[in-house]
Amino acid sequence: MLSSVKEIEDALHMQENPWEIDENYLQIKNFSFSKILLIVPFVYSKLLNILPALAKDILLWHSFNHKSPLSTVTANTRYESLRIKCDIFVSNLVSLRYKKNKRNALLSIAQDGFIERKLGSLNSLDAIFLKALRTSKPRHAGARPFLRDKNQRKIANSISAYFDINKNDCAKITDLIRERSPDIDQHLSMLAGYHASFKNISYSLAIVYGQNSNSEFHQDTWSGIAKGFIYLSDVDETCSPFEYCKSSYQDAEFRAKRTNNAVMAGEHKFSRSTRLRGGDIEDAITQFELKTIVGDSGHLTLANTSGYHRKGQHLSSKPRVTLTFQIPRKNIISKLLINLSKAALPNI
Ligand SMILES: [Fe+2]
Repeated sequence: MLSSVKEIEDALHMQENPWEIDENYLQIKNFSFSKILLIVPFVYSKLLNILPALAKDILLWHSFNHKSPLSTVTANTRYESLRIKCDIFVSNLVSLRYKKNKRNALLSIAQDGFIERKLGSLNSLDAIFLKALRTSKPRHAGARPFLRDKNQRKIANSISAYFDINKNDCAKITDLIRERSPDIDQHLSMLAGYHASFKNISYSLAIVYGQNSNSEFHQDTWSGIAKGFIYLSDVDETCSPFEYCKSSYQDAEFRAKRTNNAVMAGEHKFSRSTRLRGGDIEDAITQFELKTIVGDSGHLTLANTSGYHRKGQHLSSKPRVTLTFQIPRKNIISKLLINLSKAALPNI
C-alpha cells in the first residue's frame, strides 16, 4: 500500500506538479475490503444479462437504469407511459415537505423541468479548476464523437474532455453555490424528484468543442433525474448552448410513444437514452417550448434531463467550458420512501 502511495508521489513530482498533494487524491489507490463488495453488483448484472428481454422489463421496471423497454412485446403496451406517470406522481410528492405558500412555485419548477440562476463571478475558484486540469485524467462522460444510431456515423472535429475535481474542492464549490443561491437545494429536489442536496456532489470541468453524440435531442432515461451546468465561458447561440424542451418530462404519453417507436425500430440497441429524429423533432418543438440557454460565465442551469434536451450547435472557434455535476439517481421506490418520510415531518 505504502509503495503505491510513494509511486504516486514520485509520479506527481516528476510532472513538476505545483499543487500540494491532496490526501483524498492519494487514497484512491488505497486497498479497501469494501471493494470486494463490488463483486455483488457485478455478479448480479451478469445474471441479469442471461434473462430474456421481457423478464428484464418486468423485473427492472422500477430502475432508472432500465432506460427503455427491451422487448417489443412491452413496447406495444402501456408499460412505458404508466411507469413515467408513476414517476411524475412520486416526484411531485417532494412539494409536500414545504408550506402551502411555497408549493405552487416549487411545483412550477418541476413542471418546467429546469431553472437558471446567475451566480456571478467564479474567479475565486480558478485555482481549483487549474488544479483539476493539471491533475485529473480526462474522460468523455458519454459525449462521444459519433451518432448513436446503427451507422455510428463519425462526427468530425469533435472534442470532449471532462476533468474530475477532488472531494475537498467539490465541497468548496458547493459552499459558494449555496451562498449565492440559498434555495438551491429545494429547487434541486423538485427537479431530481426526491429530497436531494448539494452535499457530496461531485463536479467535473468539461471542455467541449464541436458536435458530439449529445447534439441529438434525447432523454437520459425514463425516470426523472437532475443534472447541473455552470458556464465558465460566455455561451451564446453559437457555442453549444444547452437546449431544453420545456415541460417535456411531464408529458408521459409523448415520451412513451417515441421510446416505444425507438424500441420497435431497434434503435434502443445503439442508445438506451432514446433519441428524437426526423419528424419527431418537429413534433417536440411544436408541442414544447424550446429553450436555448445562453449566458455569461457564472450562469447556472439545473435540469431534469429526462425531459428532451441536447447540446446546441457549435459554430464558434472557441470551446465551451462548463462545470458539470450530477445528483445521485434514485429508483422510484426509493424516491417514494424518501418523499413520504419527509412529508411526515413538519412543513418548512
Ligand atoms: Fe443528456
